[in-house]
Amino acid sequence: MKQSGTGLAIETSGLVKVFGETRAVDGVDLAVPAGTVYGVLGPNGAGKTTTVRMLATLLRPDGGEARVFGHDVLREADTVRGRVSLTGQYASVDEDLTGLENLLLLGRLLGHGKRAARERAGELLEAFGLTAAATRQVKNYSGGMRRRLDIAASILNTPDLLFLDEPTTGLDPRSRNQVWDIVRAVVAQGTTVLLTTQYLDEADQLAARIAVIDHGKVIAEGTKGELKASVGAGAVHLRLRDAAQRPAAEKVLTRAMNARIQPDHDPLALTARVDATDGNGHSAAEQAARALAELARSGVVVDTFSLGQPSLDEVFLALTDRTADGAGPATATPGPAATPAIPGGDAPDGQDGTDVQEGKDGQDGQDHTKEGIPA
Ligand SMILES: Nc1ncnc2c1ncn2[C@@H]1O[C@H](COP(=O)(O)OP(=O)(O)OP(=O)(O)O)[C@@H](O)[C@H]1O
Ligand SMILES: [Mg+2]
Repeated sequence: MKQSGTGLAIETSGLVKVFGETRAVDGVDLAVPAGTVYGVLGPNGAGKTTTVRMLATLLRPDGGEARVFGHDVLREADTVRGRVSLTGQYASVDEDLTGLENLLLLGRLLGHGKRAARERAGELLEAFGLTAAATRQVKNYSGGMRRRLDIAASILNTPDLLFLDEPTTGLDPRSRNQVWDIVRAVVAQGTTVLLTTQYLDEADQLAARIAVIDHGKVIAEGTKGELKASVGAGAVHLRLRDAAQRPAAEKVLTRAMNARIQPDHDPLALTARVDATDGNGHSAAEQAARALAELARSGVVVDTFSLGQPSLDEVFLALTDRTADGAGPATATPGPAATPAIPGGDAPDGQDGTDVQEGKDGQDGQDHTKEGIPA
């Protein structure tokens, strides 16, 4: 790997981390361009946090290499630590202190003088909409407020590279939007952000490039457009009036447009992947028209029908289909409708990605204490 000057904030090759029998990270290659948001997308247990912790020098790799701005995470760990900051998956602020006290304390620990610490804390509380709650104990904050305070704490000193590990897991849509705005603002100031998420729409919203990881391996990498294009021409989405007509509808779609039906947890929704052209040179649109006519003929009542680019959800399903080594297609598991989580693979503890973080603390012996690295 080249030294700095490659324009890359992160370069890894063959990165490995093993915990007992588990190859948590199993040969990961990443190239993260500086100055962008890079999304690392994967279900529970995919190896996201482990990867981040190695890159942030908190965990020693068992194999491979990783460089941050050209500096080796093992041999030049101190230099790397000086340029990165991490907002961990679990809140790292002190519950008994107020928001302001947390930021003041961390500011002082980072070496700011009293006045500078107070100024910076005030600035961040203001920017993150926490001024009114500044003197309230953090244990009385909502999840969204806590998350924002967490991120504020990790940018007390502006880092060159910020790791955000599932920054919006468990947040309501409004709080997620606020965090997204914060991420955009941080990047606008020149910081590179590596963001892990289980939410496809989050990666879609924020990330310039995305690596999809599953079972410790990168199974796809590219821009959103590239990832979507990689799974085929398009996707048909339709909504049935009557769930009982679903089998009939699936049959028609399969016959009329050689569509591959995707698993769906909504009994009224039907999604299918289609090729750009069928064997006879008919375009996807022509096939769709034929399918619609046939649906009508078969008496299947369709409320909405659309043909479009696949969503990242569909991309993920398609990718995990391909790598499902005999385990059969991935099945969608219910998630919050507005923010579909990636259907769970096989998290070792039986978690299936349905209800995301609640109650998983302590599951894997992760250290949930303060993860912020003084910049
Ligand atoms: N300290 C540890 N000791 C033993 N096993 C671990 C440890 N940390 C992680 N693992 C295991 O390594 C695998 C990857 O875990 P990791 O936390 O990196 O996944 P993740 O993608 O961050 O998942 P999630 O979305 O649930 O946070 C899992 O099988 C996990 O149980
Ligand atoms: Mg994690």
